[in-house]
Amino acid sequence: MEANLSITYISALFLLLAPSIIAQPVVFDITKYGGAPNGDLTSSLKRAWKAACASTSASKVLVPKNTYNLKQIELNGPCKAPIELHIEGNIVAPKDPIQLNGDAQWLRFGYIDSFTLSGGATFDGHGSTAWKQNNCHKTWNCKKLSMNFGFNFMNNSIIRDITSKNSKNFHVNVLGCRNITFVKFSIKAPADSPNTDGIHIGRSTRVRILHSNIETGDDCISLGDGSRQVIVKDVTCGPGHGISVGSLGKYEYEEPVEGLIVKNCTFKNTDNGVRIKTWPGTSVKIPVSRLHFENLVMINVTNPIIIDQEYCPWNQCSKKTPSKVKISRVSFNNIKGTSTTKKGMILICSSGVPCEEVKLANINLRFQGTPATATCKNIKPQVFGNVPICTP
Ligand SMILES: *[C@@H]1O[C@H](CO)[C@@H](O)[C@H](O)[C@H]1NC(C)=O
Ligand SMILES: *[C@@H]1O[C@H](CO)[C@@H](O)[C@H](O)[C@H]1NC(C)=O
Ligand SMILES: *[C@@H]1O[C@H](CO)[C@@H](O)[C@H](O)[C@H]1NC(C)=O
Ligand SMILES: *[C@@H]1O[C@H](CO)[C@@H](O)[C@H](O)[C@H]1NC(C)=O
Repeated sequence: MEANLSITYISALFLLLAPSIIAQPVVFDITKYGGAPNGDLTSSLKRAWKAACASTSASKVLVPKNTYNLKQIELNGPCKAPIELHIEGNIVAPKDPIQLNGDAQWLRFGYIDSFTLSGGATFDGHGSTAWKQNNCHKTWNCKKLSMNFGFNFMNNSIIRDITSKNSKNFHVNVLGCRNITFVKFSIKAPADSPNTDGIHIGRSTRVRILHSNIETGDDCISLGDGSRQVIVKDVTCGPGHGISVGSLGKYEYEEPVEGLIVKNCTFKNTDNGVRIKTWPGTSVKIPVSRLHFENLVMINVTNPIIIDQEYCPWNQCSKKTPSKVKISRVSFNNIKGTSTTKKGMILICSSGVPCEEVKLANINLRFQGTPATATCKNIKPQVFGNVPICTP
């Protein structure tokens, strides 16, 4: 009681004092650096960023509401104080993929601590011309197209109220970040746009994706190796390929995937709901553990729940040696809705390292009005409540 009272007292005091102690950020308006509506934003943004990044107190780069063209840009830290990039307008990428050729990402942010991207902007990657040239979903030896965003080695950062539209490739790549949050982040691309994964995470810790809507042609969110403590909450996926862990186990030196919570999410017309996939035929031994999927709604989803440790598209591997990726401590709890296939749940674990400590609770999936079935291999799940019965 006493502790509560003093906390209330302190917060009241803080609220009272807050306006005077939290200084307003210094504003760097791009129109003062040569930026003009319907013009090219690239050089003015670079200059405003450079000045803001050198500011010793918190800064804000402001791009006022308007439409701007933007070439490839790289905005790096370290900056001297927290920095916000507040973009209110529509930002348009070059249509011609050649103009971004060789650049992995259209907008690349790196090595910044306490960064915020906000303002309600839409970033239009103008992908439709490029998609026709993209064959990366069929071959490894393909022309690489630019992603809309790269966030590399960022700490304590927030991406809020931003839309990524029609990226030429993945929309967002998160690499080497610690504590990065996407909130009210929106992704839009057609169902048939190739390789347009929503948010791909790799080698990052404490990544949160909250209150977001992701409509795209490939994975909604995918977790590559070294993803740790990822939280996905209140996200709607679809169209697209759903939330995917992996594929894992293909490359040497992969890092473990540990800690994922997917909670209160809806999947609409997606190929998969939640999927874990690992390659057979390699000697990569990383663990994948502590993955929790809870309160999920599936609407017309092809494979609502799927673990596939025999993932081997286009016969790129040998299924003779089982996957060595060890999956453990996984739960699927309160998952309901409709499956477009009879097998609503597929749990195919590795015969070499069977899945361990998998809990299934209250799974109610229906296929054409009847309960969907479950196929399981190399797994002995603990079952609670109403769950489809596993058959081999
Ligand atoms: C981010 O945090 C890591 C670990 O604390 C640190 O090594 C790195 O320098 C930080 N990066 C930035 C840009 O502050
Ligand atoms: C994570 O980053 C946010 C935004 O900068 C910050 O408010 C929060 O304190 C950070 N959390 C931790 C645990 O460092
Ligand atoms: C779950 O998500 C829906 C919409 O996505 C939202 O309206 C609702 O508040 C969320 N519920 C909880 C318990 O967070
Ligand atoms: C259900 O999904 C299938 C593809 O799997 C699609 O063709 C069909 O239009 C979807 N139905 C509805 C009602 O959206």
